[in-house]
Amino acid sequence: MTSQKKAQKSLKKRVSFLNDIQSQRLAFFVKALVEWFVQNGRDLPWRRTRDPYKILVSEIMLQQTNVEIVVPIYNKFLQQFPTIQRLAHSPLKEIKEITDQLGYKRRGEYLHEIAKQITFERNGQFPSNLDDLLSLKGIGRYTAGAILSFAFEKEDRTAAIVDVNVERVLGRIFGLWKWEKNVIFEKEIWKLSETIISKGNVWFINQGILDLGAIVCTAQKPKCPLCPMTEICMYYETEVPKIAPLDLFFPLENQ
Ligand code: ADE
Repeated sequence: MTSQKKAQKSLKKRVSFLNDIQSQRLAFFVKALVEWFVQNGRDLPWRRTRDPYKILVSEIMLQQTNVEIVVPIYNKFLQQFPTIQRLAHSPLKEIKEITDQLGYKRRGEYLHEIAKQITFERNGQFPSNLDDLLSLKGIGRYTAGAILSFAFEKEDRTAAIVDVNVERVLGRIFGLWKWEKNVIFEKEIWKLSETIISKGNVWFINQGILDLGAIVCTAQKPKCPLCPMTEICMYYETEVPKIAPLDLFFPLENQ
């Protein structure tokens, strides 16, 4: 089979689980997401770089930790260890003095180990494909996808990312929020994420989903009236009570 035919077949397989309505929802989603992100996305220090080392540091720090807590520690860390080579040659104790401030104390070990792997075993060459990234210590599918999409911006299905925030945003919009969080759910969400990034610029799409989840489509009290997806969101359509505007602006006393 020619490579073009193979690519067509694989794309067909990827989108076959979407019916026409879901495909239209998907096209709307990608366009509205990127437009919303350009206007409303957060200006974060790791978004001003495409250096894979800096993206790696940010992603390890952001695991289970809020952006506001990470920003000053990320800046301090990179001031002290500006390159992966410098990190590889530094004592673990100095690294942990900074990373332990974030809690979850394996981060320092992981960063040091990865820096040594890349510097000494890979001649300083930062991996730029999924399998090589997954071979690094402490790097799972999410972090590998984040590094690919934020540092290498490959329009490639391997740059999909799924974490609890992505699960929540995609699950609500595409109607999977009631599904049990089992292997089938995980598979569907990864397939959806892969299909979505095949429709546009992966850097904007993945950063956009993360910000939509952090700013608007929050776990508690989502801010649906501010969401660019209300037109297509299945959660909004079925779960969100539509309050009459008068009730909102003039709450009746003694009711
Ligand atoms: N959480 C994980 N990666 C992130 C990113 N690039 N921006 C904001 N929050 C994140």
